[in-house]
Amino acid sequence: MEYIKFLMEKAKCYSISTIFRLELESLFFGLMSLIPTLVGVFLRGITSKLFFKQIDGFPWIQPRVTIIHSDRIVAGTRLGVNSETYINGVGGIEFGNNVLIGSNVTISSGEHPIEGIEPSIFSRVVIPKKIVINDDVWIGAGAVIMPGITLAKGSVIGANAVVTKNTEEYSVNVGVPAKKIRSRRDMSKRNSNPTAI
Ligand SMILES: CC(C)(COP(=O)(O)OP(=O)(O)OC[C@H]1O[C@@H](n2cnc3c(N)ncnc32)[C@H](O)[C@@H]1OP(=O)(O)O)[C@@H](O)C(=O)NCCC(=O)NCCS
Repeated sequence: MEYIKFLMEKAKCYSISTIFRLELESLFFGLMSLIPTLVGVFLRGITSKLFFKQIDGFPWIQPRVTIIHSDRIVAGTRLGVNSETYINGVGGIEFGNNVLIGSNVTISSGEHPIEGIEPSIFSRVVIPKKIVINDDVWIGAGAVIMPGITLAKGSVIGANAVVTKNTEEYSVNVGVPAKKIRSRRDMSKRNSNPTAI
């Protein structure tokens, strides 16, 4: 009984149509996320086309990626997302073109207000904070992009970084909190002729 009350309290934040949509989205993305091979990639591409607010081209989404509130997500061409990544579009997310996201990345565009001690954080409404990820960004494995952040064109985010401030164009950023260590413009080309696997 307590559990039903708890579920009802949680559902109170949403209209019936939003709950229906979220359930449908969860069903489709959840089932498709289990399918390996190129067939899975293709089906997740179709699902994104159906549920995203807008998406140009077909994304490349690996298995076991969680995507919610996709009706508030806009993406350009060539979005690549690796396994176990969590993307929550509650406050809006914009992906540019040629965006590559590693595994276990968290991109969540909502925040729980923490001021004061009452009511409990669980009972408070989420504050939407839009995230913008511009063209040609690469986010390394395990990184967290905080709500409200803009990653400028060409930014690189190192593995396990926590990005708390907007980045500069073509910057390389690492650490917790993420700090710029260099500009890609100043780097000479390494591994410019990698061996094909
Ligand atoms: C950010 C990154 C691209 C930088 O590569 P790079 O320019 O070759 O950097 P370097 O290896 O020369 O390292 C430069 C400095 O940053 C540090 N550094 C590099 N990556 C770091 C990271 N993720 N977190 C913390 N520090 C890092 C290095 O220790 C080095 O520090 P030092 O100068 O004190 O020795 C790379 O380190 C990285 O994190 N890539 C992501 C890999 C990944 O997640 N792959 C799978 C997803 S597709």
